[in-house]
Amino acid sequence: MRVTVYGGRRLFGEIAVDGAKNAALPLLAATVLTDDEVILENVPDVGDVRTMIALLESVGKRVLLLEPGVYSIRTERELVGTPPEELVRRLRASFLLLGPLMARHGSSQLPLPGGCPIGVRPVDLHLKGLRALGAELSSQGGSWGARAERLHPAEIHLDYPSVGATEQIMMTAALIPGRTVISNPAQDPEVHDLARLLIKMGAGIMIEPGRLQVEGAKKLSGAVHTVIPDRINAGTFLIAGAIAGGDVTVTRCQPLHLEALLSKLDELGITVHEHVESVRVISDGPGSFVGGRVEARPYPGFPTDLQPQMMALLSVARGSSIIKETVWESRFAHAAELVRMGAQIRLEGSTALIEGVAGLSGAEVSVNDVRAGAALVLAGLIAEGATVVIDRDEHIRRGYRDLVGDLNRLGAAIIEETLTVEGSVTAETR
Ligand code: UD1
Repeated sequence: MRVTVYGGRRLFGEIAVDGAKNAALPLLAATVLTDDEVILENVPDVGDVRTMIALLESVGKRVLLLEPGVYSIRTERELVGTPPEELVRRLRASFLLLGPLMARHGSSQLPLPGGCPIGVRPVDLHLKGLRALGAELSSQGGSWGARAERLHPAEIHLDYPSVGATEQIMMTAALIPGRTVISNPAQDPEVHDLARLLIKMGAGIMIEPGRLQVEGAKKLSGAVHTVIPDRINAGTFLIAGAIAGGDVTVTRCQPLHLEALLSKLDELGITVHEHVESVRVISDGPGSFVGGRVEARPYPGFPTDLQPQMMALLSVARGSSIIKETVWESRFAHAAELVRMGAQIRLEGSTALIEGVAGLSGAEVSVNDVRAGAALVLAGLIAEGATVVIDRDEHIRRGYRDLVGDLNRLGAAIIEETLTVEGSVTAETR
């Protein structure tokens, strides 16, 4: 799609966030662990979720939309262990199906997954975990196969608290009777949301500091579960309010999950009011806040998925800023695009050095990752003239149901158009 942002408007009003994409994806994957009906509520209608639903249908699940955001998922026919390559390649989270499908079907095979090109994206920790659980793994022409004959519980240490590897091991261990212990697991709210669903399905899960214990069961049952709010989308709208200036309240969110961002905004001099399920941000826009230092780290550190949006914000702060990215090594493609808009950013390895400027100017920029896309739209909110964001592969829609519509409802002036394969505009959708 092509997004044209006319800068210079402040944002006012309330915006409610949907369920978290990154929680919904593993929750959907977990439904293969049982034949019974699992009902998931507050599932966001975003591209990645649609891909995961298509994947579930391709392996034998029936997925019914009961009402907006509410899905009933149950086994329709005998599960198959090999989802189609075309679907798997669209989404990194598709790899989460390897362990659960193996545990239920006896064997599984998945090509290496795709997703946004933001780093090397190895799956070694997923494989290490599955191997420790007794899976027999084999690789062939870029895909991984797993066999379940000798599964057993295990003690697994993760060298790095990978979100996906933690989820992969938790789900697989949930169907292996006995106690599996994961040390140094990811502690993200989305991981804990998956734990809550697995508990409802009959597994025992204990979360301790630095450790996660899974008491697996021979059989898991159906459950009803509500997806937690999307902290990354909530954060995106808060940063939108901070950069554009105005008074924005994000509702139906969980402020506790946003602490790293909220304390950073406060440190920069941006007014933030936290309530039980909402956060209000009040700002005077570019130049009204100071620069600072941000280090993207595993939860509860500052989320890497808000790093691009934060870079847009800091590019118009007073003074200099430093952003260090420790999670994804190539996650700075948006920096060059922000520079085209007048930002002063210098990259040194995984560090970005930013000299705040008074304002940005409209330019044609392109995106290759969902959050970079959001960051460039936010930068466009304060750029002089029109900013044209070319999102050829629909990255923004992978994670936002209606970013443009939501920002327009807050007072922005943005037009979204669909691109044909050749790149010309076919239809104006907003
Ligand atoms: C999830 C999120 C993604 C977010 C990321 C980090 C979902 C669907 N996606 O991705 O939006 O940016 O967490 O918060 O939840 N790594 C390895 N070996 C592995 C696995 C990961 O080295 O086996 C490395 C990765 O290359 C990366 C880092 O660990 O550098 C983080 O990856 P991980 O936490 O696994 O992220 P994802 O689960 O893929």
